[in-house]
Amino acid sequence: MSNLILEVNDLTKKFGDLVAVNSISFSVQAGEIFGLVGPNGAGKTTTVKMLTTLLPPTSGFASVAGFDVTHHARDVRRVIGYVPQLLSADGSLTGYENLLIFAKLYDIPSKEREKLVRDSLHFMGLSDSADKLVRSYSGGMIRRLEIAQAVLHKPRVLYLDEPTVGLDPVAREAVWEYVGTLAKGGTTIVITTHYMEEADAMCGRVAIMNHGKIAAMGSPADLKASIPQNGEAATLNKVFEYYVGDSLEPSDAEGSKKDFRDVSRTRRTARRLG
Ligand SMILES: Nc1ncnc2c1ncn2[C@@H]1O[C@H](COP(=O)(O)OP(=O)(O)O)[C@@H](O)[C@H]1O
Ligand SMILES: [Mg+2]
Repeated sequence: MSNLILEVNDLTKKFGDLVAVNSISFSVQAGEIFGLVGPNGAGKTTTVKMLTTLLPPTSGFASVAGFDVTHHARDVRRVIGYVPQLLSADGSLTGYENLLIFAKLYDIPSKEREKLVRDSLHFMGLSDSADKLVRSYSGGMIRRLEIAQAVLHKPRVLYLDEPTVGLDPVAREAVWEYVGTLAKGGTTIVITTHYMEEADAMCGRVAIMNHGKIAAMGSPADLKASIPQNGEAATLNKVFEYYVGDSLEPSDAEGSKKDFRDVSRTRRTARRLG
């Protein structure tokens, strides 16, 4: 019955004295949408970088589709797609041109490239903007283009690192919709977010990370049912508070700071594109 595609055992990453990821273990079934959620600095990106072979683990083990990330990194890279937290599209090229580069990178035969790229732009709702420079795209369109880049070679596992940071609610929803469609098509999704409501709505299971550790893991419904019920509707934020003993919901002041950070990050991205 089990069809595990991702297995992680005691995975640890240290940067000097800092234990960024502290002996985490979990597994993901093929076709799942699995969320790594938690505040900034929790260790989400570091985990994803180890799982995508971009960072060597300090200790522990992880395998993707049976391939060990340390000893079979090349095999792992062939079966995964990755949308990094920072920008991965080139603003001075069109959407079509960006995708063509990835089609070459993934060794897609030249005869098939054009159709594949056009189909993929269509799938992501970018046909109308295919021949416009990416620097003229909105944040949501850029994210969708980056997802298209990451899945051109039909990876079995797609990693998305904070794909909705800095996007407005409509653009966020569009990103999730495409992610949902990919998952329905059989792609396993590992997604990080610090937006608990998003994880709640979209993920089959989530691991709540804090200070490099997994504080709790399960389906959103099971996690919410696992904490004392006090009459109000449970939320993943409350689950976080219960297991971590700290509030994830920023106070108003912190909230506006975070929003500003998100916006300024988006702006930086826009400048880099422009
Ligand atoms: N290359 C690095 N060198 C040193 N410290 C790092 C490095 N990358 C991340 N860290 C630290 O590791 C911790 C986890 O970071 P990260 O994985 O980026 O968290 P998240 O993605 O959850 O925000 C943070 O304290 C961060 O400052
Ligand atoms: Mg991160």
